[in-house]
Amino acid sequence: MRSILPEKGRPYEEILQELATFASDDPHYKEGKTWSLVYYLDQEYTDFLGDAYGQYFSANGLNPTAFKSLKRLEKDVLTYTAELLHGNEKNCGVMTSGGTESCLLAVKTYRDWGRAKGIKKPEMILPVTAHVAWDKGGEYFGVKIKRAALSADYTVDVAAVEKLITRNTVLIVGGAPEYPHGLIDPIEQLGALAQKHHLPFHVDACVGGYILPFLEAHGVDLPLWDFRVPGVTSMSADIHKYGFAAKGASCILYRSMDYFKHQIFVQQDWPGGVFASPALLGTRPGGAYAAAWASIQANGRDGYMKLAERTLHAVKGLKTGIAGIEGLELIGDPKASLLSFRSTSPTLNIFAVGDVMEEKGWLVDRLQRPDALHAMVTASHDAVIDQYVQDLREAVAIVRADPSRGTTGQAATYGMISHIPLRGLVKKQVASLFAASYQLDAEEIDLTNSDALSGDGQSSHKTGFVNTLVNWYVQRKMKKNV
Ligand SMILES: Cc1ncc(COP(=O)(O)O)c(C=O)c1O
Repeated sequence: MRSILPEKGRPYEEILQELATFASDDPHYKEGKTWSLVYYLDQEYTDFLGDAYGQYFSANGLNPTAFKSLKRLEKDVLTYTAELLHGNEKNCGVMTSGGTESCLLAVKTYRDWGRAKGIKKPEMILPVTAHVAWDKGGEYFGVKIKRAALSADYTVDVAAVEKLITRNTVLIVGGAPEYPHGLIDPIEQLGALAQKHHLPFHVDACVGGYILPFLEAHGVDLPLWDFRVPGVTSMSADIHKYGFAAKGASCILYRSMDYFKHQIFVQQDWPGGVFASPALLGTRPGGAYAAAWASIQANGRDGYMKLAERTLHAVKGLKTGIAGIEGLELIGDPKASLLSFRSTSPTLNIFAVGDVMEEKGWLVDRLQRPDALHAMVTASHDAVIDQYVQDLREAVAIVRADPSRGTTGQAATYGMISHIPLRGLVKKQVASLFAASYQLDAEEIDLTNSDALSGDGQSSHKTGFVNTLVNWYVQRKMKKNV
């Protein structure tokens, strides 16, 4: 096995230089080329957050009585968040490592709320567009998931939610906005439904929490989506997204202690001492709390308003651009800062358009059900939106001129993955390839290999993904026909 440990420690400078070289193949987020994953402003701001993080680099939020500084930073960030979300001083909650941890905690909390009421087989109702973190939570904590269908406008159908309520329901979830299409679910109606059935209702504002308030302040007409809705019992909001904090910082806030108390873990008999923990993690990174606090102070209301204005401008440019390209349309009526668009023509493969965009240097996400491309727009995109729209127009023309592009490249892979009917097999195969990629001697998974479509049936970690799926599918079909 290859050894990573040098015999003697190396000079810091040399290490830092080598680290920088590893990023050479990473997405060019500093030039606004990524449309998810990264919230970047500029180098000066990033260095500033790095310094704030560094000041609390070693501090540990595990024991809130030890580092009083961290408890204060956390409280300040939560107080700011409660203000943004129209909460009040009776709210309670914690900072977490990210949106996923916040969602997982809500699942655990409401499972235990249900247990206290004697519910032994808990269920939660999720819009089909709810973030996968909720599925993860369901799997991890043994809460059965019931998926509510969408209305024609792609937000969740409230009547469908009501039909799924049983005496085992412990939670209803709504998105503000949901990730795939950037649409805000009908939070007021869901809140009323939750109240009618005396059920908890969580609004997942992981992506919207730190931008929707500023869009509203700019006059964007949004339906009520936060604690202003009486039935909302808790909310999650990620300050490491539109709050422009360092990665590793989200908040979960409950309307009252009645719910939050079920989140707390205590083990009173451990030889290591009585142990109490409010969140999933043990050691909690002080740096992330300091950087989150620093981001609030550095931007101020004025700074966040300006960022929202630039974002709105970029979103408007993108929407107008998409409307002006024949063969493309938005999904639903997104009012926030993220959106999705799809093809309106059977001969225009949207994933092939995505491939051309990637050839042009953009990193775009693909959606399924329906097939679409995704854009999480930030203030930084304002500087590149015209170029993006121009490239998108060209990409559509290129795919129209050569529809065979739909059967090669990532278009083939994503098309295959999203349309194979055997979803359980897709899940199993993806899981095993994914796991294999974490074996220490594994080669990279290459999702982009389309040659495998005409492949020889051999599968390796590198080229096997499409190959294996195709083989499976073909073999299953053949078996059925025998
Ligand atoms: C609505 C929503 N919830 C939860 C998450 C999970 O957040 P994270 O990636 O920080 O774990 C996301 C991420 O985009 C999201 O959009």
